[in-house]
Amino acid sequence: MGFAMEYRRLGRAGLKLSALSFGSWVTFGNQVDLEQAKSMLALAYDHGVNFFDNAEVYAHGESERIMGRALKELNWPRDSYCVSSKAFFGAVPQPKPTQRGLSRKHLIEACHQALRRLQVEHLDLYFCHRPDDEVSLDEVVQTMDILVRQGKVLYWGTSEWGALEIQDAAEYAQKHSLIGPSMEQPQYHLLHRERVESEYAPLYRSLGLGTTTWSPLASGLLTGKYHDGHIPADSRLALPGYDWLKAPVLGGDVAARRILLDRLAAIAQGLGMSLPQLAIAWCLKNPQVSSVILGASKPEQLSHNLAAVDCVARLDGAAVNAIEGALIGL
Ligand SMILES: NC(=O)c1ccc[n+]([C@@H]2O[C@H](COP(=O)([O-])OP(=O)(O)OC[C@H]3O[C@@H](n4cnc5c(N)ncnc54)[C@H](OP(=O)(O)O)[C@@H]3O)[C@@H](O)[C@H]2O)c1
Repeated sequence: MGFAMEYRRLGRAGLKLSALSFGSWVTFGNQVDLEQAKSMLALAYDHGVNFFDNAEVYAHGESERIMGRALKELNWPRDSYCVSSKAFFGAVPQPKPTQRGLSRKHLIEACHQALRRLQVEHLDLYFCHRPDDEVSLDEVVQTMDILVRQGKVLYWGTSEWGALEIQDAAEYAQKHSLIGPSMEQPQYHLLHRERVESEYAPLYRSLGLGTTTWSPLASGLLTGKYHDGHIPADSRLALPGYDWLKAPVLGGDVAARRILLDRLAAIAQGLGMSLPQLAIAWCLKNPQVSSVILGASKPEQLSHNLAAVDCVARLDGAAVNAIEGALIGL
């Protein structure tokens, strides 16, 4: 196996997640079929990963269906891993008003549908995938409390909510003796830091908020694969339907990005690791990160990225300073 997985508490919650987890956005149902999903889930599990992330909207439910079939065939003890779903965007291509959002109706029906697709009796983690300004926080908190008390969900949380919205939801829960949010799922990587490092900082202390962070490689940019602006044919940005992702990943100052990637790659090389391993290990250095959710379209990527656990110790003060220096002015 080569290295030992680390386990971290989900903030103040008692749940311990593997510091690296594995998610299926874009990949399952688009790039990865059932057999490939099974082998990548098994690879992750064999390396100590105990959390698999999913959402109703990924491949319009197909991602959860594939993960559910794979988990069934892999037949691991149910108490040895965690699985999540997220609701908000809907599972069908053009959701009707009742098929999306955070209303009690959709949150409960989406949970039941995810349980069926994933073939499990409860979701270990269930996220409100975005805030919904057309549903009161009272209704959201009450609904999540019901799902937890029914045993259908163990921990609930948010994804890309503002700190004040999370704070308000937690305060409403406390005031009414309801079960409040345990975790947030924010984007976090070398080029996207503000929410995790600044905006949520008060919540780690006051609420004991845990975080399961996404896109540690900025959708592949931090592997260097898009370095010269060329999009490899077998990569995420070349997939039909993902044109919208080109601007957030490849937009901005091309020359500055090239300089940054060169600087980071040189630091990684000096530390005896690859650029993606440096980017993932850097996320793991943040103690407020409960679990970094990896994505991979191929088993080789996943095994390479999982080895980042072993690189964290090499990111000492001098290395972290060098990385900060590389980011300055970009
Ligand atoms: N809550 C939310 O709103 C939200 C949003 C996004 C993601 N997520 C979660 O976070 C998970 C991870 O996000 P992500 O997939 O965007 O993570 P990421 O690490 O930023 O990107 C993963 C992609 O980068 C490429 N890649 C990974 N390792 C590589 C390597 N060593 N060499 C070359 N290419 C490599 C692969 O794409 P290609 O091979 O296709 O290029 C892979 O699918 C998702 O699966 C999902 O569970 C949540």
